Amino acid sequence: MPTLETTVNGLKMPNPFVIGSGPPGTNGNVIGKAFDEGWGAVICKTISLDATKVVNVQPRYARLRARDSKEIIGWENIELISDRSFDIWVEELKAVKDKYPDRILIASIMEEFNKDAWVEIVERCQDLGVDAFELNFSCPHGLPERKMGSAMGENPDILSEVSGWVNAVAKVPVWAKMTPNVTHIEDPTRAALKAGCEGVSAINTIRSVLGIDLDTLRPEPQVEGYTTPGGYSCRAVMPIALRMCMEIARVIRDEFPNSTLSGIGGVETGNDAAQFILLGADTVQVCTGVMKFGYGMVKNMCDELLAFMVKHEFETLDDFKGHSVQYFTTHADLVKRQAETRAAAKAEHDKRMIRDDAQWTGDEFVDQSDALARG
Ligand SMILES: Cc1cc2nc3c(=O)[nH]c(=O)nc-3n(C[C@H](O)[C@H](O)[C@H](O)COP(=O)(O)O)c2cc1C
Repeated sequence: MPTLETTVNGLKMPNPFVIGSGPPGTNGNVIGKAFDEGWGAVICKTISLDATKVVNVQPRYARLRARDSKEIIGWENIELISDRSFDIWVEELKAVKDKYPDRILIASIMEEFNKDAWVEIVERCQDLGVDAFELNFSCPHGLPERKMGSAMGENPDILSEVSGWVNAVAKVPVWAKMTPNVTHIEDPTRAALKAGCEGVSAINTIRSVLGIDLDTLRPEPQVEGYTTPGGYSCRAVMPIALRMCMEIARVIRDEFPNSTLSGIGGVETGNDAAQFILLGADTVQVCTGVMKFGYGMVKNMCDELLAFMVKHEFETLDDFKGHSVQYFTTHADLVKRQAETRAAAKAEHDKRMIRDDAQWTGDEFVDQSDALARG
């Protein structure tokens, strides 16, 4: 029987399924629920030292549905990081670690471009016992107005400097969460890993406008009739997330072989997760999926991932991690491979085609007859 157990950057998990930062990890109570249901690890909603600057609006979500089935396939949010005070978070995270000492609790943190603030938040979180950090360099809305979130993740120099401050004081593993709102995700990936982060997570949400209400002529979600571009997630983003994970996996394979990748974006099933792992992910995060299906979905995801492993006779996640990365190449190489295959097929066809009766052979008689029938 295969196992889903995995150890990533020294963090021992019962399975690779991680609650991604967002509403599913928004307080101690729901984090406990996630552990009870069997999630491999939880990343809390992003926290900062001063929550008084975080003011959310309502509504702050808008959803895209499939035309026929009406299934939710895309989800835009204009939600900020946690609006709960740091002191309350310290109490709740401590209580969670007391109750679940063996489970992996990862603090998602974000601060302005201020070394003292980053050092303080890292030291205070690790003192209370969190197992790792995820640096939110990637929220695409609201926070960039204050030069936070993706304003940092879009700039490899700033990302590198902040990662350096964090890694100088962090005693536990650090993952840098990447924004997809860049042309080449390899650049911030390299900056984070060179600055000492143990891993990267990808992707955060994609900057988006979900749609326009054709009655009111106003964009969604409407807050007093207005909106601001938000972050897009859910099933519809999975192909983009897979592409970016593949690009990151190649950087890790070629330049940082000891670093890890946490894949995120549209994951809802064990088969979705298998695809991220085939493209190099060590763990797989789920955020919007939990908002659609609830915490219990992890059981089906584990069963489906195990069934995939049984089918291919994989014993551990490492047996197939990154397997499919080798099948990506350049377009020019595809053209070359196709030309070679066609030339070989033509040579084979020509070999079978009878041009004079001396070419008939006993062994290939049927094939030769067939070839003459097909021309
Ligand atoms: C409502 C909502 C709130 C989110 N809040 C955060 C956050 O506080 N910090 C963070 O790093 N990512 C946040 N995210 C991004 C998710 O963690 C994840 O990167 C993204 O949604 C893609 O994954 P998914 O399709 O599984 O949701 C949020 C996403 C949603 C939908």
